[in-house]
Amino acid sequence: MLHHADIERLGNDPRTAAMETMYPAMYGVTEGALFDFFEQGMLTANGAVHRRRRSPFSKSFAVRTMADLRPQIRRSSEELIESWYADGQVEFAGQFAAQLPARVTGDLLGLPRADIPSFTKLVYGVTRFLSGSITPDAIREAEAACQQLRDYVEKTLEDRRRTPREDFLSDFLAKVDAAGELSPLEIIFQLVQLIVGGTDTTRVAIVVQLALLLRHREQWDAVCRDPSLIPGAVAEAIRFEPSVASFARVTTEEIEVGGAVVPAGQLFSFSTMSGLRDEEAYERPDVFNIRRTDQPRLLPAFGAGAHRCIGEALARIELEESLAALTARIPHLQLDQTPEIKGHGGIRRVDTMRLSWQP
Ligand code: HEM
Repeated sequence: MLHHADIERLGNDPRTAAMETMYPAMYGVTEGALFDFFEQGMLTANGAVHRRRRSPFSKSFAVRTMADLRPQIRRSSEELIESWYADGQVEFAGQFAAQLPARVTGDLLGLPRADIPSFTKLVYGVTRFLSGSITPDAIREAEAACQQLRDYVEKTLEDRRRTPREDFLSDFLAKVDAAGELSPLEIIFQLVQLIVGGTDTTRVAIVVQLALLLRHREQWDAVCRDPSLIPGAVAEAIRFEPSVASFARVTTEEIEVGGAVVPAGQLFSFSTMSGLRDEEAYERPDVFNIRRTDQPRLLPAFGAGAHRCIGEALARIELEESLAALTARIPHLQLDQTPEIKGHGGIRRVDTMRLSWQP
């Protein structure tokens, strides 16, 4: 079993590296937009290339900067709830959880609201390629979605260069253009990775968090009565059922992990799930407890080392504000259909989740 401490140690071990283009190569993808996603982005890059691609975002995604987005994210959550509240029922995964991260990313990039549905479709189209065991037809569809997303981001960048605004994207562009360290294709694909990295991960986490709380009704009721429990509830839901079950690395030398030897040049996954249920790190790890006092500062669900999630502060705010809006508006929420959480590698899958209430 991979322990909590192993994840932090291996994520920082110089004998492990990001996979660059190894994953698309496994599926015979050696050119095109999906290939560029891996070749040009920060997630899959190493060393100085990775630092150069990540650093323009580090400040903008810091906890303090992201906190400014809180009121807007709360408003978006409330608007989504109001769009179906009077119906007394909703399919929550599609009508809330899939919408909020796409809206938040869209707002960050200053996209017109009217573009969000088609933008969301493209993002989920690309995500399919990352979920593994994918058919040749699905690869073709993911490639088409990735090309369209790349073109859309490129056009958005051109518009913003012509007409800068007071927003995140204009700031980012001014900074990278002045530094001149990223190629035009790199600029596009950092944004594409940010969009893709921040969408399905957060959609799944929003669904799972609500399902866990409603299945532990006394803890849901406690959050409804006392919103100061919200950050603890968010952290515990991420720990108990993380939306990202593992992250991948390649060994550059032979290494030993938990008594097993991994040869050099091997693509392998760190399970965040086993570390998050580690008895050495958590008291009674199999108990869902939003009042837990042993949450570590660095929750391994967001990775470890140089590639640790750049969107963690934003993700936590989305999870917190959506929970605050739901508990305030629909404390009498009923879980009619528990979503099945599927998968033990990469981004996990949830399909539908039906809720009802008396409006
Ligand atoms: C609950 C939600 C989220 C979870 C569980 C999550 C998880 C992770 C994990 C495990 C990694 C490390 C991957 C690796 O080392 O290979 C990662 C990296 C990353 N995440 Fe997230 N993430 C979430 C939300 C977000 C959001 C909201 C954004 C942006 C808007 C984002 C953008 C990224 C990016 C760009 C990287 C690559 C960072 C780098 O390579 O330096 N993520 N995320």
